[in-house]
Amino acid sequence: MIQKGTSRAADAESQTVPPDGRPINDQPRWRRDFPIDWAQDEYISHRDLVKFMVLTSAAFVAGQLFIVLKSLFGGQEAAAPALPVARVSELAVGAAKTFHYPAGSPPRLLIRTGEAEFVAYDQQCTHLLCPVVPAYEQGKLHCPCHNGWFDLHTGQPLAGPPRRPLPRISLEVRDGTVYATGVEGGNA
Ligand code: FES
Repeated sequence: MIQKGTSRAADAESQTVPPDGRPINDQPRWRRDFPIDWAQDEYISHRDLVKFMVLTSAAFVAGQLFIVLKSLFGGQEAAAPALPVARVSELAVGAAKTFHYPAGSPPRLLIRTGEAEFVAYDQQCTHLLCPVVPAYEQGKLHCPCHNGWFDLHTGQPLAGPPRRPLPRISLEVRDGTVYATGVEGGNA
Protein backbone atom coordinates (compact mmCIF):
# COMPACT_ATOMS: atom_id res chain seq x y z
CA MET A 1 0.00 0.00 0.00
CA ILE A 2 2.71 2.36 1.06
CA GLN A 3 4.74 1.45 -2.04
CA LYS A 4 1.81 2.17 -4.31
CA GLY A 5 1.27 5.57 -2.71
CA THR A 6 4.98 6.40 -3.06
CA SER A 7 4.99 5.33 -6.69
CA ARG A 8 1.94 7.45 -7.43
CA ALA A 9 3.58 10.43 -5.76
CA ALA A 10 6.75 9.91 -7.85
CA ASP A 11 4.64 9.73 -11.03
CA ALA A 12 2.88 12.90 -10.07
CA GLU A 13 6.26 14.62 -9.55
CA SER A 14 7.44 13.63 -13.00
CA GLN A 15 4.23 14.81 -14.63
CA THR A 16 3.86 18.34 -13.36
CA VAL A 17 2.12 20.45 -15.95
CA PRO A 18 3.10 24.14 -16.14
CA PRO A 19 0.28 26.52 -15.17
CA ASP A 20 -0.27 27.66 -18.77
CA GLY A 21 -0.34 24.07 -20.02
CA ARG A 22 2.29 24.61 -22.70
CA PRO A 23 5.17 22.08 -23.15
CA ILE A 24 8.32 22.64 -21.09
CA ASN A 25 10.36 23.77 -24.11
CA ASP A 26 7.88 26.64 -24.66
CA GLN A 27 8.18 27.82 -21.07
CA PRO A 28 10.18 30.90 -20.06
CA ARG A 29 13.87 30.40 -19.32
CA TRP A 30 13.46 30.94 -15.59
CA ARG A 31 10.92 28.12 -15.34
CA ARG A 32 13.21 25.74 -17.21
CA ASP A 33 16.15 26.69 -14.95
CA PHE A 34 14.15 26.15 -11.77
CA PRO A 35 12.01 23.09 -12.51
CA ILE A 36 9.63 21.49 -10.07
CA ASP A 37 10.00 17.84 -11.12
CA TRP A 38 12.91 15.77 -9.84
CA ALA A 39 13.68 14.42 -13.29
CA GLN A 40 13.97 17.90 -14.78
CA ASP A 41 15.94 19.11 -11.79
CA GLU A 42 18.48 16.30 -12.23
CA TYR A 43 18.65 17.07 -15.94
CA ILE A 44 19.56 20.67 -15.11
CA SER A 45 22.16 19.50 -12.57
CA HIS A 46 23.81 17.23 -15.13
CA ARG A 47 23.76 19.97 -17.74
CA ASP A 48 25.40 22.37 -15.29
CA LEU A 49 27.98 19.75 -14.37
CA VAL A 50 28.85 19.20 -18.03
CA LYS A 51 29.05 22.98 -18.54
CA PHE A 52 31.34 23.27 -15.52
CA MET A 53 33.59 20.46 -16.74
CA VAL A 54 33.83 21.93 -20.23
CA LEU A 55 34.76 25.36 -18.83
CA THR A 56 37.36 24.01 -16.39
CA SER A 57 38.83 21.77 -19.11
CA ALA A 58 39.07 24.77 -21.45
CA ALA A 59 40.78 26.81 -18.71
CA PHE A 60 43.21 23.94 -18.08
CA VAL A 61 44.03 23.61 -21.79
CA ALA A 62 44.53 27.40 -22.07
CA GLY A 63 46.89 27.31 -19.08
CA GLN A 64 48.92 24.46 -20.56
CA LEU A 65 49.06 26.26 -23.91
CA PHE A 66 50.36 29.39 -22.19
CA ILE A 67 53.11 27.40 -20.45
CA VAL A 68 54.14 25.72 -23.73
CA LEU A 69 54.23 29.04 -25.62
CA LYS A 70 56.15 30.71 -22.80
CA SER A 71 58.73 27.92 -22.78
CA LEU A 72 59.05 28.13 -26.59
CA PHE A 73 59.21 31.89 -26.98
CA GLY A 74 59.84 33.28 -23.51
CA GLY A 75 63.00 31.39 -22.47
CA GLN A 76 65.09 34.52 -22.30
CA GLU A 77 64.17 37.14 -19.76
CA ALA A 78 66.01 40.31 -20.73
CA ALA A 79 64.09 43.00 -18.91
CA ALA A 80 67.24 44.66 -17.53
CA PRO A 81 69.42 46.83 -19.76
CA ALA A 82 72.87 45.57 -20.74
CA LEU A 83 75.38 45.86 -17.91
CA PRO A 84 79.17 46.05 -18.34
CA VAL A 85 80.63 43.38 -16.08
CA ALA A 86 84.35 43.28 -16.97
CA ARG A 87 87.01 44.55 -19.33
CA VAL A 88 88.32 41.76 -21.55
CA SER A 89 91.86 42.61 -20.43
CA GLU A 90 90.83 42.24 -16.80
CA LEU A 91 90.57 38.45 -16.86
CA ALA A 92 93.19 35.91 -17.96
CA VAL A 93 91.90 32.79 -19.72
CA GLY A 94 90.53 30.51 -17.00
CA ALA A 95 89.98 33.38 -14.55
CA ALA A 96 86.58 34.27 -13.13
CA LYS A 97 84.74 37.16 -11.56
CA THR A 98 81.43 37.52 -9.74
CA PHE A 99 78.88 40.19 -10.51
CA HIS A 100 75.18 40.96 -10.01
CA TYR A 101 72.83 41.22 -12.96
CA PRO A 102 70.25 42.64 -12.84
CA ALA A 103 71.00 44.77 -9.79
CA GLY A 104 70.12 42.92 -6.60
CA SER A 105 70.24 39.48 -8.24
CA PRO A 106 71.99 36.48 -6.71
CA PRO A 107 75.71 36.41 -7.53
CA ARG A 108 76.61 35.51 -11.11
CA LEU A 109 79.92 34.03 -12.22
CA LEU A 110 81.77 35.23 -15.33
CA ILE A 111 84.49 32.91 -16.60
CA ARG A 112 86.87 33.54 -19.47
CA THR A 113 87.06 30.26 -21.38
CA GLY A 114 89.21 31.36 -24.34
CA GLU A 115 90.87 34.33 -26.00
CA ALA A 116 87.51 35.70 -27.11
CA GLU A 117 85.14 33.43 -25.21
CA PHE A 118 83.29 34.03 -21.99
CA VAL A 119 80.48 32.24 -20.20
CA ALA A 120 78.43 33.37 -17.24
CA TYR A 121 76.05 31.52 -14.93
CA ASP A 122 74.13 31.97 -11.76
CA GLN A 123 76.66 31.07 -9.07
CA GLN A 124 74.10 29.30 -6.92
CA CYS A 125 74.07 25.54 -7.31
CA THR A 126 70.69 24.26 -8.46
CA HIS A 127 70.74 21.63 -5.72
CA LEU A 128 70.77 23.64 -2.47
CA LEU A 129 72.18 27.01 -3.55
CA CYS A 130 75.83 26.63 -2.46
CA PRO A 131 78.19 28.76 -4.59
CA VAL A 132 79.79 26.88 -7.48
CA VAL A 133 83.43 27.48 -8.39
CA PRO A 134 85.13 27.01 -11.76
CA ALA A 135 87.32 23.95 -12.30
CA TYR A 136 88.66 25.36 -15.54
CA GLU A 137 91.23 22.65 -16.27
CA GLN A 138 88.50 20.01 -16.08
CA GLY A 139 86.03 22.04 -18.13
CA LYS A 140 83.59 21.98 -15.23
CA LEU A 141 82.05 23.95 -12.41
CA HIS A 142 82.21 22.37 -8.98
CA CYS A 143 79.84 22.62 -6.05
CA PRO A 144 81.83 21.58 -2.97
CA CYS A 145 78.81 21.20 -0.69
CA HIS A 146 77.74 17.79 -2.00
CA ASN A 147 80.28 17.27 -4.76
CA GLY A 148 78.03 18.44 -7.60
CA TRP A 149 79.46 19.07 -11.06
CA PHE A 150 78.31 21.15 -14.04
CA ASP A 151 79.62 21.49 -17.59
CA LEU A 152 81.61 24.72 -17.87
CA HIS A 153 80.46 25.39 -21.43
CA THR A 154 76.76 24.59 -21.08
CA GLY A 155 75.91 24.74 -17.39
CA GLN A 156 74.30 21.29 -17.60
CA PRO A 157 74.60 19.06 -14.52
CA LEU A 158 77.15 16.27 -14.93
CA ALA A 159 77.41 14.51 -11.59
CA GLY A 160 76.27 14.63 -7.99
CA PRO A 161 72.88 15.76 -6.67
CA PRO A 162 72.09 18.67 -9.07
CA ARG A 163 69.48 17.79 -11.69
CA ARG A 164 68.85 21.20 -13.27
CA PRO A 165 71.27 23.32 -15.31
CA LEU A 166 72.66 26.57 -13.96
CA PRO A 167 70.71 29.60 -15.23
CA ARG A 168 72.89 31.20 -17.88
CA ILE A 169 73.64 34.89 -18.38
CA SER A 170 73.71 36.06 -22.01
CA LEU A 171 76.86 38.01 -22.83
CA GLU A 172 78.07 40.38 -25.52
CA VAL A 173 81.62 41.60 -26.05
CA ARG A 174 81.85 45.14 -27.47
CA ASP A 175 84.83 47.46 -27.58
CA GLY A 176 86.88 45.38 -25.17
CA THR A 177 84.09 45.13 -22.59
CA VAL A 178 81.93 42.15 -21.62
CA TYR A 179 78.26 43.02 -21.13
CA ALA A 180 75.54 40.97 -19.46
CA THR A 181 72.44 41.25 -21.61
CA GLY A 182 69.91 38.75 -20.30
CA VAL A 183 69.17 35.76 -18.10
CA GLU A 184 68.27 32.39 -19.61
CA GLY A 185 66.47 29.73 -17.66
CA GLY A 186 64.82 31.83 -14.95
CA ASN A 187 66.17 33.20 -11.67
CA ALA A 188 66.38 36.73 -13.07
S1 FES B 1 74.30 22.41 -3.02
FE1 FES B 1 75.48 21.93 -4.74
S2 FES B 1 75.57 19.80 -4.76
FE2 FES B 1 74.32 20.26 -3.08
